[in-house]
Amino acid sequence: MLKIGNTELKHGLLLAPLAGVSDRTFRNICREHGAEYTVSEMISAKALCYDQLSRKKAAEESATLELATIFKGEMPIAIQLFGCEPEFMARAAKLIEERSYCGCVSDTAPAAIDINMGCPVRKIVGNGEGSALMRSPEVAAAVVSAVRAAVSLPVTVKIRAGWDSVTAPEFAKRIEAAGADMICVHARTREQMYLPGVDLSVIEAVKRSVSVPVVGNGDIYSAEDAINMMRQTGCDGVMIARGALGNPWIFTEIAAAFESREWTSPTPAERLLAAREHFVRMLDDKSDRRATAEAKKHIAWYIKGMNGAAAARAAVMTAQDSEEILAIIDKLLFAEERK
Ligand SMILES: Cc1cc2nc3c(=O)[nH]c(=O)nc-3n(C[C@H](O)[C@H](O)[C@H](O)COP(=O)(O)O)c2cc1C
Repeated sequence: MLKIGNTELKHGLLLAPLAGVSDRTFRNICREHGAEYTVSEMISAKALCYDQLSRKKAAEESATLELATIFKGEMPIAIQLFGCEPEFMARAAKLIEERSYCGCVSDTAPAAIDINMGCPVRKIVGNGEGSALMRSPEVAAAVVSAVRAAVSLPVTVKIRAGWDSVTAPEFAKRIEAAGADMICVHARTREQMYLPGVDLSVIEAVKRSVSVPVVGNGDIYSAEDAINMMRQTGCDGVMIARGALGNPWIFTEIAAAFESREWTSPTPAERLLAAREHFVRMLDDKSDRRATAEAKKHIAWYIKGMNGAAAARAAVMTAQDSEEILAIIDKLLFAEERK
């Protein structure tokens, strides 16, 4: 069992933060398929504080406010912040804990504040944020202690193996001392970006160097991968990102394996029905234009590898509205059902 603050996770199955992907609909679908804990898309601490200063009133006016919006039915969920200035990070964490930021419509505080120290994107690391913090352990520790002091929620940190060499075990010790309650390790350096292959020995070394729970992350695409990571590293839970794209069943599959239950993967028709439902739920949550634009990648992931997927994918990508997308899915479904 994995414990993050008062939140207990039987299997330790977490959905990773995925900017531009893990919106509320996707998080809820993964939860319904067995993800026990989710994390919001990364939110700029500075943007949240600046929104406050400009007194933006409604979520529609600010992408940041929308990203920070969570509801009780989504719990347990952590809100992930990125930034490298302790004062902004602390202020943003407090605004979230108290739900006191302008325009807040969340009906609950999150289960934890998660701090992003893994993002490899040039724009972010260029500001000293995300994985750049792994090059500045003092700043990273100052960020963690400032957030720790500002809120009573658990504070968790998502790190990489290091910047261009493995420093995570030492780094983890420092951020544990600064007040981190759980550390998630993506077992690649920033230099490795998302190249295939993770170094599980890094997760094992972090697990040995700290006493707070450690969650392993990187390249989990099956129950076998999850079991392998947990056995080899002794980590307390696993976090899944790309393995869940178009495949929320990965959580069911892993939970079934942990419980020694049989599990069969969904048929193409079941995948198509799931893609359809996913899209319809996005339409409930967003405008037709936004849902159509944002659902395209999800639908492409669901249909990957199916008969006629390449042509359907091309059609989805150029679709103009929701009716067009639904017609493409229904055509594929019709073909599957006639088999
Ligand atoms: C499209 C995309 C968006 C991501 N966004 C975030 C993010 O907002 N915050 C974060 O900490 N990591 C983010 N990540 C990194 C993932 O959470 C995860 O650490 C990484 O993909 C490795 O896990 P995987 O091998 O299971 O995909 C993102 C990754 C991808 C592919």
